[in-house]
Amino acid sequence: MLFTDVIRSKRDGGELNDEQIQFLVDGLTDGSIPAEQISALAMAIFLNGMTFEEAGKLTLAMASSGTVLDWQSDNLDGPVVDKHSTGGVGDKVSFLLAPIAAACGCFVPMISGRGLGHTGGTTDKIESIPGYNSMPEFETFRQTVKSVGCAIIGQTTDLAPADRRIYSIRDVTGTVESVPLITASILSKKIAAGLDALVMDVKVGSGAFMPTDEQATELAHSIMATAAKAGLKTHVLITDMNEVLGTTAGNAVEIEESMRYLRNDVREARLDEVVLALCGEMLITTGLETDRNNARRRCDEAVTSGHAAEIFGRMCTALGGPVDFVDNYSSYLPKAKVIRPVFGKGYVTDVDTRAVGNALIELGAGRRSVGEELDLSVGFTDFAPVGAMLDKERPLAVVHAASSEDAVAAEKNLLAACNTAEYAPAERPIVHGILTGDT
Ligand code: URA
Repeated sequence: MLFTDVIRSKRDGGELNDEQIQFLVDGLTDGSIPAEQISALAMAIFLNGMTFEEAGKLTLAMASSGTVLDWQSDNLDGPVVDKHSTGGVGDKVSFLLAPIAAACGCFVPMISGRGLGHTGGTTDKIESIPGYNSMPEFETFRQTVKSVGCAIIGQTTDLAPADRRIYSIRDVTGTVESVPLITASILSKKIAAGLDALVMDVKVGSGAFMPTDEQATELAHSIMATAAKAGLKTHVLITDMNEVLGTTAGNAVEIEESMRYLRNDVREARLDEVVLALCGEMLITTGLETDRNNARRRCDEAVTSGHAAEIFGRMCTALGGPVDFVDNYSSYLPKAKVIRPVFGKGYVTDVDTRAVGNALIELGAGRRSVGEELDLSVGFTDFAPVGAMLDKERPLAVVHAASSEDAVAAEKNLLAACNTAEYAPAERPIVHGILTGDT
């Protein structure tokens, strides 16, 4: 088979057959199809889409392109469940939800991604913790999940390797925002991780790959339908990404905010709402709870009791991080050379969150090209939420940069990305909907 025929078929609006999909996945996995041909096909899929049938086949073929985990022999006394987000700016939910869910009796083998487009990556963020091995041997990963209850790691070379390759090509070719490609990318990794259940966080808004509720709902249905075909029980929450989630965006700065949350020191309201809603849904999906209020209460108690923080600390130690990280996180995290507030005036009315993500890339917190090294210390803190009143005391955000020039550029980008007015805008809900497939 010639790969140019596969590209031409999709370019002309055709449906890829089983052999063509397998040829693509094999070529992605063994590297025999070059990046330029993969990019051309990704763009043709982006423009012409895929049927549910095609996307389902692509998902299953990508899931089987490497090791498929099986937790049966570990005799875990709780469900194996994970959460995955379609990507946002300031999304540090994973660092909170994994230990909270573990404290509530779940086992969470969280295999996360690196930054994609303007959105940040969990793997990059966790690597701000000195010594933390985000790419452990499989046995270490398995043992950590088993003994601690959760492990957050990066995508290993042997798990859905076909996705790993196409993901990095999509990242730099403007082909991320495709419903079938996002569906196959996310679900292939989750199916390969051997989960009993999955909760998806489909982000919607100016910082999401799906800017409108209609597009987010289309993606949610695609994910649920494809997951159902593969036998993976999945609930989806559609959550707001019209502003930075929490008060920080970057890498180390997000870990710092996460530690403050887990220690129950500061829990920003919107972040708290998303964490409790998603984590509560993990308890519902797995049948550990039947009532959403009880589920949320249990998750909240996991934080207030200190149990979730203790689990994060044990996970960190098991994967090579400092034993006292949760207590002394600030002394371990890298710090930027230049730290400076950005002032504005009036109420924050709306934020171009994608532009904030792009400003992070310019600061060095995100990638422009495959494999680029990041500066984990840079980013934004103290981000004012929509509705906040800015004045001489209350900045729009604090920039953490590697140089004064970078700080000046970031300030300009931030001010251009955020609108202010004399009056506060109406409040927006943070959770736009919950889809369980039963309704
Ligand atoms: N997250 C993924 O894992 N893949 C995508 O394509 C988008 C978000």
